[in-house]
Amino acid sequence: MSLKDKIDPSKLPEHIAIIMDGNGRWAKQKGEERIFGHESGVKSVRDSVEAAAEIGIKFLTLYAFSTENWNRPKEEVIALMQLLVYSINAETETLNKNSICLKAIGDLKSLPSDCYNELMEAIDKTKNNTRLTLVLALSYSSRWEILNAMKKIALEIENKTLSAAAIDESCIQKHLCTVNIPDPELMIRTSGEHRISNFLLWQIAYSELYFTDKLWPDFGKEDLYEAILDYQNRERRFGKTSEQLIL
Ligand code: IPE
Ligand code: IPE
Ligand code: MG
Repeated sequence: MSLKDKIDPSKLPEHIAIIMDGNGRWAKQKGEERIFGHESGVKSVRDSVEAAAEIGIKFLTLYAFSTENWNRPKEEVIALMQLLVYSINAETETLNKNSICLKAIGDLKSLPSDCYNELMEAIDKTKNNTRLTLVLALSYSSRWEILNAMKKIALEIENKTLSAAAIDESCIQKHLCTVNIPDPELMIRTSGEHRISNFLLWQIAYSELYFTDKLWPDFGKEDLYEAILDYQNRERRFGKTSEQLIL
């Protein structure tokens, strides 16, 4: 029985988020420049999106560039942005063929204009697709997102369109970039690092975390299946006891 066949379709996570890490180390191991690792990571993106769509995952969020990543050497940042423009352009047709809707979260206005325009065009061209929503986190950090949400809420209070008493979890959720996107049930990080690196801090309150030593360019469909199978063997208690879950 293949890993894919072992997956229980009735217990699929609706949303998977991935911290795609380890491109630089992968390249270094091969005696190559870091950017070669990023280029090679595009295949893993393609494979993961394809696998997720095939098995019926509805949302896949990929952490592609963090707010903190702007602090990397200028050449690497430029090369990453160019790779992004190229990849979005090259993949839009495939996204449409497979009915995949592209979205992006983050401080998108901070992206170089060619990158921003390419992204907006792809988002527009794929907006009616319904099989899978692919969310790219770009120039994203969770603290930036939460700070922004707080500012928006404060403004609404200032303008008297919101009262402090009306602020609840759903109000906060509506002010995050992930409005209309369910919280991920499963978050995966590659490369053996056991940290969240400022990704979806509000949204992962009850996510199952899965860490693998695989470096991102080595991550393939089988690795995604393995993560899902691991997820399906977890008991999600949400604060309750095991006994309560059986009732
Ligand atoms: C992840 O790989 C890609 C981005 C953060 C853009 P890294 O570039 O972080 O690779 P390592 O962690 O240095 O190996
Ligand atoms: C997290 O990876 C960001 C992305 C995958 C885009 P990093 O490589 O930037 O994270 P740290 O700095 O090791 O925590
Ligand atoms: Mg890294």
